[in-house]
Amino acid sequence: MPSYRAPRGTRDILPAQRRIFAHVESVATGLAERYGYRSLDVPTFEHSAVFERGLGTATDIVEKELFRVSPSRGEEKDRLALRPEATAGIIRAYVEHGMHTLPQPVRLGLIGPMFRYDRPQAGRYRQHYQWDIEAIGDPGPGVDAELVELALRFYADSGVAGVQVKLNTIGDPVCRPGYLVILAGYYREHADALAPADRARIETNPMRLLDSKEATTQAVNRDAPLLWDHLCDPCSAHFAAVRLHLDALGIPYQLAPEIVRGQDYYTRTTFEFFRAGAEGQQDALGGGGRYDGLVEVLGGRPTPGIGFALGLDRVVNALMAAGFEAPELAPVAVVVGADPEATATRLRIATELRAAGLAARAELSQKKLGKQLETAARDGAHFAAIVGDELDAGQILLRDLPAGTQKAVPLVDLVKELTRASRTHRHGAGEA
Ligand code: HAM
Repeated sequence: MPSYRAPRGTRDILPAQRRIFAHVESVATGLAERYGYRSLDVPTFEHSAVFERGLGTATDIVEKELFRVSPSRGEEKDRLALRPEATAGIIRAYVEHGMHTLPQPVRLGLIGPMFRYDRPQAGRYRQHYQWDIEAIGDPGPGVDAELVELALRFYADSGVAGVQVKLNTIGDPVCRPGYLVILAGYYREHADALAPADRARIETNPMRLLDSKEATTQAVNRDAPLLWDHLCDPCSAHFAAVRLHLDALGIPYQLAPEIVRGQDYYTRTTFEFFRAGAEGQQDALGGGGRYDGLVEVLGGRPTPGIGFALGLDRVVNALMAAGFEAPELAPVAVVVGADPEATATRLRIATELRAAGLAARAELSQKKLGKQLETAARDGAHFAAIVGDELDAGQILLRDLPAGTQKAVPLVDLVKELTRASRTHRHGAGEA
């Protein structure tokens, strides 16, 4: 057993898996550009108050899962936390940089690690990666539909098939409080039938019971009053309009009252993405919703907003389970040599090939030529450029490794020759 291991709930993303991350990140950044979401970065830690105020102190994320950062000295001691999500930090940045003066909505996007001290399990990590998208300053409903369509496009383009969206509305500060009174009353009546952990939440956050994973609570939920029957007229009209926009895009969705989300900032539209057949919160591939009060909570003027975050680990896991592989760029050539000790010459020639834009490596060990060729073939190189006595006459031997053929090439023509040959090679292999 090694002495040190990655902390519980974290993992090393090794090269084969990292290439799949790179694939999904490039799909995400390509789409963000096409849809007009500009990339930004915000710090991976913020003043804890940004999360406490933004997400709500009574949420699981803040109450139980926040990684508080404790610098060993200074005035920020005990006042910082690693970001559990990106929305609060992005809105903090929107306010701090006066982005309300830009044309609205301000469309922003970010990819990065998030930290939650949750119980680790399959697909749930203490450091996970999200693609986060926010559209700030548009009351909707068109932008609500735009975001749902964008997320579904991302899954399809990444290669994850069969992703479905569950859609809900959780009202606003006008209609939700009245509904919560009715809902809490209903749960109090059925308290005996609820799972004990859920019973305690009747008074603090009754809506979270709708999302319960406990079978007994789920049975009670079947007859629970629905917020849809208690929406105020503007929330009701907004929800109808979002659905109309989704219909116009031909996007099917499931109406799902249990999509209540885990952050306090949400208003009106909420949604989560699942793969057909995969239920349970740990399986949500992504989620988001509208947060029309958040900018104000974080010190800005009243500004509507909506966004989503898609869990990239879960997308990568789904791709790996489906056998998806992201091929590695094999070196076009490895420069090897008959004189095992002439590493400086091999390094110089490989450097020239790389300067000309080719993927090339030099064999820098002092192995025998036979071993060098073997390693080059195992690395997936198409060619070995063999440095030998011919170099005195300005020539190098170019060996086609899969074909087992070789010919002498003037050193001055090596770049041209490799560029041409590698192109033919790729065409021949049907990869181009
Ligand atoms: P969230 O639902 O908390 O939303 O997280 C978004 C997604 O991140 C989840 O659906 C899941 O795929 C992934 N995720 C969350 N926690 C973990 C974990 N521990 N391990 C692996 N994956 C995880 C938000 O974070 C909101 N900020 C989304 C949003 C943006 N709403 C508006 N704008």
